[in-house]
Amino acid sequence: MTQFAFMRWCLVVSLSLLLVSCGVNPSAGKTLRVATEPAFPPFEFQGTGGELQGFSIDLMNAIANAANFQVNFLSLPFDGIIPALQGKTVDAAISSMTITEERAKTIAFSRPYFKAGLAIAIHADNQNITGFDSLQNKKIAVQIGTTGAKKAQGIPGVQIRSFDSAPLALQELLNRNVDAVINDAPVTLYAINTGNLQGIKVVEQLLTEEYYGIATAQNSPNLPLINQGLTKVLNNGIYNQIYQKWFKATPPQLPAKLAIGNQNGAGTSGIFNSISIILQAFPTLLWGALVTLQLTVLSVVLGLVGGSLIGIIRLSHIASVRWIARAYVDFFRGTPLLVQIFMIYFGLPAVAQELGFNFNLDRLVAGVIALSLNSAAYIAEIVRAGIQSIEIGQAEASQSLGLSPVQTMRYVIFPQAFRRMIPPLGNEFISLLKDTSLVSVIGFEELLRKGQLIVADNYRAFEIYAGVAVVYLCLTLLSSQAFSKLEAWMNPVQRQKKYDRELK
Ligand code: ARG
Repeated sequence: MTQFAFMRWCLVVSLSLLLVSCGVNPSAGKTLRVATEPAFPPFEFQGTGGELQGFSIDLMNAIANAANFQVNFLSLPFDGIIPALQGKTVDAAISSMTITEERAKTIAFSRPYFKAGLAIAIHADNQNITGFDSLQNKKIAVQIGTTGAKKAQGIPGVQIRSFDSAPLALQELLNRNVDAVINDAPVTLYAINTGNLQGIKVVEQLLTEEYYGIATAQNSPNLPLINQGLTKVLNNGIYNQIYQKWFKATPPQLPAKLAIGNQNGAGTSGIFNSISIILQAFPTLLWGALVTLQLTVLSVVLGLVGGSLIGIIRLSHIASVRWIARAYVDFFRGTPLLVQIFMIYFGLPAVAQELGFNFNLDRLVAGVIALSLNSAAYIAEIVRAGIQSIEIGQAEASQSLGLSPVQTMRYVIFPQAFRRMIPPLGNEFISLLKDTSLVSVIGFEELLRKGQLIVADNYRAFEIYAGVAVVYLCLTLLSSQAFSKLEAWMNPVQRQKKYDRELK
């Protein structure tokens, strides 16, 4: 074999190995990355083993089969799907997405594949909500970025709480934190019928008429392929089989096309446009920043009090007391803050209700409790290490001067230890400030959630999240400046120098 032939042989072998390892079957056409938010049964959800299932999943697989392509499903948050399509991170999305005129300005839709509509869910014992018109001045939970959220925005005096997924919004209703949920009717009804939503009923079953479509980027070459597959599946009876499997009924007639105007290319681009989008969003983001600051300051103050106590208990002479403090630190440092937030906000009221008493937590209170319990664990370690870092000679010297143990701590050890604690406390403050963004999962409208809400409206993910990042950066830079000032002020040498300068 010549050297050239050998190299060619190597190339062929490695290419085929690559194809095999990627699971690509060259005869089965191309692979499309298809986004879905699998928390929307019976359309798209995960089985107990984590496998994707549901009407949309079966349908997409059938379409792929009919049009000879492969599907690689990717889970994405619902409000991230349109930005992902625009950015071409995914090729298509099947996520019970309603075909709307507004969305059609930035992405493209296939022909309709399902007829649905919104429904209002309320507590079975609620007599005063009888329909859409009685929702004025009520509290309503919705999934962020959905048509349900849009519908709720039009109600006068309404208070909206937006959640990342429909099940979380429904949980909020179960916990009696809101009066109603506006969500896609088939999903709410499915949850009620499967017994997952007890004590909830539906009023006004079809508030709107909506059609779901498979979404792609505008002018995507994959759209004709998808449409072709969908048409085939609709005509050869497979669509009916899948419908029957999930809804135990025969499907309604679907239109071949929806009459929505103004498709294609309304999304302008360019740097000036981007800047104007950020500027427009700025006032709202600043409001969010104020809420973030409020959350941070409250949690830091409580965390400092709790953390100092636990830190001192960690130094106790009594072993069992020491162990309790140790267990606290281990638990709150060793479990994700996000899990703690979910446990406190959704878990506690649910457990309380099962035990027979009614209790729910305000979101600010729940957020502050979770953040301060968590930061107390870290602060406890900072306090303990700070105190332990002061040489034993200091304590001995003050005792020989006749100071009591409390006085020794108060006048000798703590002031010195505190100086050493400032830099790590500054770190803790800054991470807490950023961690407040996790509270957005309970629908709390701090800085990040304000940004998400804007993106759900204008689909300009990059600009808005860049704006959010800049505001966070300003907040953290300001706080680190403040901590440097405090550190300098607490430094006796620097303070003396400044004093001397002022005397001159
Ligand atoms: N049909 C509604 C909409 O398009 C809700 C869809 C939510 N889908 C989901 N997988 N969570 O806005």
